[in-house]
Amino acid sequence: MPLAGGQLTGNTSAPNIALSFTRSGAVESPLQTPFDLFGKVALITGAYRGLGFAIAQGLARAGATVVLNGRRQDALDAAVGLLSAQGLGASTAVFDVTDREEIGSAVAQINERFGHIDILFNNAGIQRRGPLVDFPQAQWDEIIATNLSAPFAVSQAVLPGMISRKSGKIVHIASLMSELARPGVVPYTAAKGGVRQLTRGMAVELAPHNIQVNAIAPGYFATEMNRALIDDAEFNAWVSKRTPAGRWGEPDELAGLAVFLASSASNYMTGQMLVIDGGMSVAL
Ligand SMILES: NC(=O)c1ccc[n+]([C@@H]2O[C@H](COP(=O)([O-])OP(=O)(O)OC[C@H]3O[C@@H](n4cnc5c(N)ncnc54)[C@H](OP(=O)(O)O)[C@@H]3O)[C@@H](O)[C@H]2O)c1
Repeated sequence: MPLAGGQLTGNTSAPNIALSFTRSGAVESPLQTPFDLFGKVALITGAYRGLGFAIAQGLARAGATVVLNGRRQDALDAAVGLLSAQGLGASTAVFDVTDREEIGSAVAQINERFGHIDILFNNAGIQRRGPLVDFPQAQWDEIIATNLSAPFAVSQAVLPGMISRKSGKIVHIASLMSELARPGVVPYTAAKGGVRQLTRGMAVELAPHNIQVNAIAPGYFATEMNRALIDDAEFNAWVSKRTPAGRWGEPDELAGLAVFLASSASNYMTGQMLVIDGGMSVAL
């Protein structure tokens, strides 16, 4: 049963990884690397499956307290179950990323519960395919609202906390379509192109606040969003042939880059869009 917008559930009172103590009694992370996310709170939108889930899992393994967003409580609970089976804690925040009221109330609840949001991944996204000439206006609006306006709105909601703490990491999930194009996905291409410039604009404005804003641009990954393409034998074969790595990406292969961009290892990097595509975008 979906719960009311902005509702936060789950158990993250237990840390994800074992703690150690200094002589003074202060808690220390056992990881002690630039990629250590111990003590950080991360909100990942659209995280019950696909790339969002892989990102959440990667951040949790690096020590972060993760809050998974989605529109369906049951799907989020199942995702939390998969994490807890690995000994990883997680919470959920049910809200629609296109609804500013729900975003505001969810972010307030997360702040109340954990005290801060250090990391935001704007991952939720949708795809609608069809020829431009009669592409429905309503679907254009839906794509722009979800893929471009939502990263702007969710970022705005977490920014006051990040600005006041003079620290934050925001990562947008862009796409190869932020730079390249294919027929049949014009609105998606326009929205993801906007995400690239949103990243740059936010980066330069927020750098003085010690907030880094970067983007990940995935190539073709095997997720539900691409189900129709995976099931299309011809397109499926084209992806493998066109990609120097010779295959689709697996969602888990995004996790390391996500941890890097969420961690202090990337503190002097901002405004960048990092492509992860098995070499597709550099091959003729
Ligand atoms: N897979 C790829 O090859 C690829 C390549 C480039 C970029 N990307 C981008 O990567 C991101 C993740 O894609 P994916 O492949 O993992 O797709 P996915 O499996 O379809 O996951 C997208 C997630 O976003 C959620 N979502 C959609 N609209 C939402 C809303 N209004 N509020 C809250 N959650 C919402 C979906 O939940 P619902 O079930 O509720 O809709 C779903 O959990 C997207 O931004 C996508 O554009 C993917």
